[in-house]
This record gives sequence, C-alpha cells and structure tokens, in this order.
Amino acid sequence: MKKRTLKIKRFNPTKDKKPYWQEFVVEAEDTDRILDALNHIKWYVDGSLTMRRSCAHGICGSDAMCINGKNLLACKALFKEVGDDVTIEPLAGLPVIRDLVVDMEPFMEHYRTVLPYFISETPPPSYGERLQSIEERKIFDDTTKCILCAACTTSCPSFWARGEYIGPSAIVQAHRFIFDSRDDGAAARLDILGNADGVWRCRTIYNCTNACPRGIEVTKAVGEVKKEILFSTL
Ligand code: SF4
Ligand code: FES
Repeated sequence: MKKRTLKIKRFNPTKDKKPYWQEFVVEAEDTDRILDALNHIKWYVDGSLTMRRSCAHGICGSDAMCINGKNLLACKALFKEVGDDVTIEPLAGLPVIRDLVVDMEPFMEHYRTVLPYFISETPPPSYGERLQSIEERKIFDDTTKCILCAACTTSCPSFWARGEYIGPSAIVQAHRFIFDSRDDGAAARLDILGNADGVWRCRTIYNCTNACPRGIEVTKAVGEVKKEILFSTL
C-alpha cells in the first residue's frame, strides 16, 4: 500500500461562496481504482463528500469526472494509470450541484432533442422481428456502446464556449438511429442536427474521442453525420 494524495474540488452551495480545494491522504494499491479511494474518504473520513456512482464497473456512466485533467470514469481509472497524486474536479461545462456532482439536465435535454429512439412508419412483419443483415448492423455498431457518461461533451471546447451546442454525445446517440436500416426517423434527426447549434459547431478537435471510456470513435461518428446531412441536401 502506498500513500496517495487526493486533491478534490469541493463546493456546497448552501454554505460556500465559491469552490475550494481540499486534500485527503489515503493508502491504496497501484491496482486500486480512484473510486475505491473516493468511497474510502466518503465512508471513513468525510461523509459530506458528494459524488455519483452506481455500477462501479464502467457500465452506468454515472461517475465521470475530471481526474488529473482528463475526463475518466472513477471506477475504471487505476492509480497506476493516473499517478500517486490525483486532482479531481467535476465535469466542466455543466452547473455544479455539489462537489463532484454536476447537473446533467442540460446534457439530457440535448440528448432528448435528437429523438434517441426507434421510429418506424411501418408495422413489424407478421413473421416476427424486423431483420437486418450483419453488414447493416455493423454500420452503427460503435455508437450502440454509448453509456451517456457525458465525458465527451464536457471535454469539448465548442460546448464550453456555447452550451447550446448539442454536443458529441447527442450526435453519437443520433448516429445510432440515423444509420439503422430499420429506422425511418433519419430525416427528422438530420434536420435537427443541421441547425446552427448542431453538428457544424464541431471543430474536429478530437477531445471527445480521447475522452470516451467506451472507445467509441466519436469524432468519426460526428463526421459521418455531417456527411449524411450534406448528401441528404443534394
Ligand atoms: S460517446 Fe463515449 S464519452 Fe460520450 S457519452 Fe457516450 S460513452 Fe460517454
Ligand atoms: S460507477 Fe457506473 S460507470 Fe462508474
């Protein structure tokens, strides 16, 4: 076990005028996760430390936070990867509710805008499921992996500069349906994403791809949606 220093940005709007940094020293193995250390602090040192976490296995997306300057899931980030001394802040670009918890509503509002559900104008076939070839499924396989953690959108300078920008996560969610051969809602989604705060605010900076804990090629997906908008208007 080694001693590690966690410097955490704290803010409780009911008593703090502005955020401040607080240091905690914990003992942890190289293979321990940042979430283990945060849980230790919350359970045994300072119960007022506030953060979100649920599955603890990289599936629910609730514990995305900025760790040593990079958006990561605390449950997937190991000390041996991030170092002995760790700085932890809430995700940038969303209002802080308390400590490491941000208000996800602006993010979810953008997600809902892109109609992130299956739309069909035809009834399902009488013989059962709506079938699709392996090749058709492959086209949007990558974007089915999104867990809505917001790591991509909150690492995007275009989103920081203008919170109305729909952001890479919502575009990934739209991509998942736009390129699904069974779906009939692509035109409506492309219309939404072609507006002033849609895909054209992306400057291809690649922060989103680097931040994604699911390894989704986010910038590529955004590029494919841009291309689809251009072709659909020809
Ligand atoms: S694309 Fe990746 S980083 Fe963005 S919300 Fe989905 S899982 Fe998180
Ligand atoms: S707690 Fe669910 S992804 Fe980390």
